[in-house]
Amino acid sequence: MRTASEHAKAIVKTTAPAIEKHGIEITTAMYKRLFQSEDVKAMFDQAAQESGEQPRRLAGAILAYAKNIDKLENLGPAVTRMVQRHVETGVKAEHYPYVAEALLPAIRDVLGADVATDEVLGAWGEAYWMLADILVAAEAEAYALAD
Ligand code: HEM
Repeated sequence: MRTASEHAKAIVKTTAPAIEKHGIEITTAMYKRLFQSEDVKAMFDQAAQESGEQPRRLAGAILAYAKNIDKLENLGPAVTRMVQRHVETGVKAEHYPYVAEALLPAIRDVLGADVATDEVLGAWGEAYWMLADILVAAEAEAYALAD
């Protein structure tokens, strides 16, 4: 399990207001990048994209994460829900790099390089992989139980 450094966590927390303001723009830009892979795109309910429902859910999850990165126990029910949807849709560890490679550039695109500096993106990279490892571990457990 990877954990973000205290320094990275502090940076992520300071970006919460910008994420709150621009979250939907960021996740909409993220999905645009992510769906360049047709295989990944096929995993998603496109109606939930077009209605804006899924970008909204992901933006909410990212904001909750930014705010609670130093008290992850607050995220329990939200994590359970993500794991459930991921297992229903067949999300596996090998998919997580696609989301990282879509999300981090989307943060820079929307916030701009002055706000989303290399240091900020580095901190978000650490934060992303900390959450990804939590999800992957819980999902692996759920897949094993279902077997
Ligand atoms: C740290 C990374 C991730 C976070 C924070 C995240 C977050 C979420 C959230 C909040 C939901 C909505 C849950 C609900 O229905 O309430 C969701 C659903 C989903 N996620 Fe993720 N996710 C991550 C990684 C991934 C990856 C790597 C994939 C695969 C490419 C993926 C594919 C999906 C799919 C297919 C759904 C269901 C969407 C639908 O109904 O169309 N997610 N995720």
